[in-house]
Amino acid sequence: MSKLTIALTKGRIEKSTVALLEKIGINCDFLRNKNRKLVFTSPDDKYQFILVKAVDVLTYVQQGVADIGIVGSDVIYEDGGEHYEMLDLKIGQCRFCVASQPSYDPTDYRRKIIATKYPRTAARYFQAKGEDIEIIKIEGSVEIAPLLGLADAIVDIVETGDTLRENGLVIFEEMDAISTRLIVNQVSLKRKKQAVCQLVDQLDAYINKEKGD
Ligand code: PRP
Repeated sequence: MSKLTIALTKGRIEKSTVALLEKIGINCDFLRNKNRKLVFTSPDDKYQFILVKAVDVLTYVQQGVADIGIVGSDVIYEDGGEHYEMLDLKIGQCRFCVASQPSYDPTDYRRKIIATKYPRTAARYFQAKGEDIEIIKIEGSVEIAPLLGLADAIVDIVETGDTLRENGLVIFEEMDAISTRLIVNQVSLKRKKQAVCQLVDQLDAYINKEKGD
């Protein structure tokens, strides 16, 4: 069977992704003890893994360098791209939220300034509510934007809520739920159908058994 190249997202969902792959019998010792290495081949030579930033998972899959990508729906929703979304892996579950300091008034008629790593998602959300806002794109640590007067509020992902709490922010509006998805390059699904479907079926069976769906 042909070797599959799988692009994994570095950071927040990396640990739970590796744990999930191990649950279906893929030996991931090489990923657990990776140091600074970014490309790995599984001991059985069935998989090549690459570790990249979330948005780059979309690029590698779209370009066909990776057959499969494992990435959050927040990034898919924000950046889109050409691929098949095959599976909700039910890890990395969190939610987009509008948050700010307790003094923020979401009903204030003034044009609000929203800081976010997700400008398209934020624009779509406020547009659907008929609100005209100004968006400031921030690359990280978005929570400090309202504290320092850069923005009135933020649109960001909230998982445990710890980052908001520790920075004195509260949730004002809950938006879409987010989870980690398995995406497949459109050509790979045709040319490596057996290998792709075998992996997808194994993951699907494990997730359904575990989550009782
Ligand atoms: C995300 C998000 C929040 C935090 C939320 O950031 O932007 O800052 O996680 O998680 P919590 O609700 O569990 O506290 P991430 O860790 O991905 O890093 P970044 O700010 O550098 O993008």
